[in-house]
Amino acid sequence: MCGIVGCVTAGADAPRILIESLKRLEYRGYDSAGVAIIKDGAIETMREVGKLSNLESTLGNSGLMGGTGLGHTRWATHGRPTEVNAHPHRDGSGRIVVVHNGIIENFRELRKELQDAGHEFASDTDSEVIAHLVQSNFSGNLTEAVHASIQRLQGAYAIGVMHADEPELIVGARKDCPLVVGLGDGENFLASDVTAVMDQTTTVVYLDDGDIATIRRESVAIQNAQGEPVEFVPTKISWSLSQAERGGYPHFMLKEIHEQPTVISDTLLGRLDEEEGEVRLEELALSDDDIREIKRVNIIACGTSWHAGQVAKFYIEQFARIPVDVDYASELRYRSPVLEKGGLMIAISQSGETADTIAAMRMAREAGCSIVGVCNVIGSTIVRESDGTIMTHAGPEIGVASTKAFVSQLVALLLLSIKLGRVRGVLTKEDVQEHCRKIRHLPKAVESVLQTENHVRKVALKYVSAQDFLFIGRGVNYPIALEGALKLKEISYIHAEGYPAGEMKHGPIALLDEKLPVVAICTKSAIYDKIVTNVEEARVRDAKMIVIANAGDEDIKEVADDVIYVPEVDEFLSPIINVVPLQLLSYFVAHERGCDVDQPRNLAKSVTVE
Ligand code: F6R
Repeated sequence: MCGIVGCVTAGADAPRILIESLKRLEYRGYDSAGVAIIKDGAIETMREVGKLSNLESTLGNSGLMGGTGLGHTRWATHGRPTEVNAHPHRDGSGRIVVVHNGIIENFRELRKELQDAGHEFASDTDSEVIAHLVQSNFSGNLTEAVHASIQRLQGAYAIGVMHADEPELIVGARKDCPLVVGLGDGENFLASDVTAVMDQTTTVVYLDDGDIATIRRESVAIQNAQGEPVEFVPTKISWSLSQAERGGYPHFMLKEIHEQPTVISDTLLGRLDEEEGEVRLEELALSDDDIREIKRVNIIACGTSWHAGQVAKFYIEQFARIPVDVDYASELRYRSPVLEKGGLMIAISQSGETADTIAAMRMAREAGCSIVGVCNVIGSTIVRESDGTIMTHAGPEIGVASTKAFVSQLVALLLLSIKLGRVRGVLTKEDVQEHCRKIRHLPKAVESVLQTENHVRKVALKYVSAQDFLFIGRGVNYPIALEGALKLKEISYIHAEGYPAGEMKHGPIALLDEKLPVVAICTKSAIYDKIVTNVEEARVRDAKMIVIANAGDEDIKEVADDVIYVPEVDEFLSPIINVVPLQLLSYFVAHERGCDVDQPRNLAKSVTVE
């Protein structure tokens, strides 16, 4: 996701400082970058598509110098990754520049209003409206103009703003996106996270939602959303730089597991219209008539994304009553699938570059299907070659084992299913309103699962020497059992299998003995009693039972060796909750076994060959 840096320094070295700071944010992922420097009462901006080295050489050749500046790495959400859409963005006069991380949900409305008032826009981004808004509110005091402007913004933002009239000032503000101020000696800094400023200072102030920071060379003042001064307490950073990039977590995987509440919020952002009982998926490229005409859905994906597809089959069949086939892309492409003109294909991919998924999509295109890509990387091949897209907004996923991207796929696919169901009249407005209310609770529910981390770790330590694991689940949690098994095998190298619990008697029950840990997903559902019976059947054959159950389910302890409690949610939301303890379990088992959790042997993050 986008990264912001800024500095107010005495010398003329801002371009170098900004580039070095942006390099520290590279891990967040980006597709273009830019800087703006105040020089001789004017602002010069330079932006380049692609790697930071492109911007670095353009800056180097320009000889641009100055002490105050802003920099940005952009991970495109609104508008393609082009130079024009790269930040910083200017207002019409060119005297104000803005860098932004987040999504402004009401940018269309604001843009229209500003255009009607004579503002001319240069980019396709949501972010540019902020520069024009600040200009329209500016009457000599930049902090006041930012304060007035953010009252109009809906959505999430961290911003940095400069005005050519103020050569030693940057203003930062945030809501739902991170922003820190770095405190130096006669120089101060602004950044999306501490890693970016750690070369300059280890004393930082974390801004809270609603805060506005007025950052000058010799002083920093912070005011809250009401405009009242905030007494801030600086934090001394004790991490090393490499730890800081992982936000203090020992591995990216653990960091990404912990990011899931935020990722869910980001994937939902601007998409639930509770008042109207609607789901808004603007890039879907399917009219209501198209949706009513769909006879069958084919889902294709690989690995973890295929598990998301299996959950989506439940969702689409339940909410929209459309038959769904889910295929491994690598299988579909080498058989003769019945892909019909007018059919809908959903291609699910974190990276958007998985070779088999792309090949299967192209087959569907040949057959005349419409294609919707559910993807995390804007500008990727799958996004470019799809008719419509649902971006998952999980941010860059660095750990090879997918965690937060999977959860964001589940959320995106749930939204799609509800949309299909509403348009086809399977769901009423009231149904959707009720679903929206429940979905909004998800980030909090996942947060509370993360609080069980220490307990999950203790459970994991008991089973680190196991040679095999079985994961069982039923219904919409059967794919979660598959995902739990995949997570464990890919990072710990322990053999693990996922099974639908009702299938145990048809073969796998022969494996059970006291050496086999069985992880059973046993949260409340329409067939809860049946899975408890399956757990009992395994338990009496001496298997060690690790059970995921709902808080308050005391009876389950009688059939379990270990219970991991999660909050109770409606069954359709339970996969999004239940996968989290399984991710943690795999992480702790693998970590304890000394495995390279973030980069397991033989695996690549993006499988661009078949
Ligand atoms: C497992 C994992 C892989 C990917 C698979 C598809 O943790 O990450 O199984 O899910 O390689 O990749 P994408 O989603 O990028 O198409």
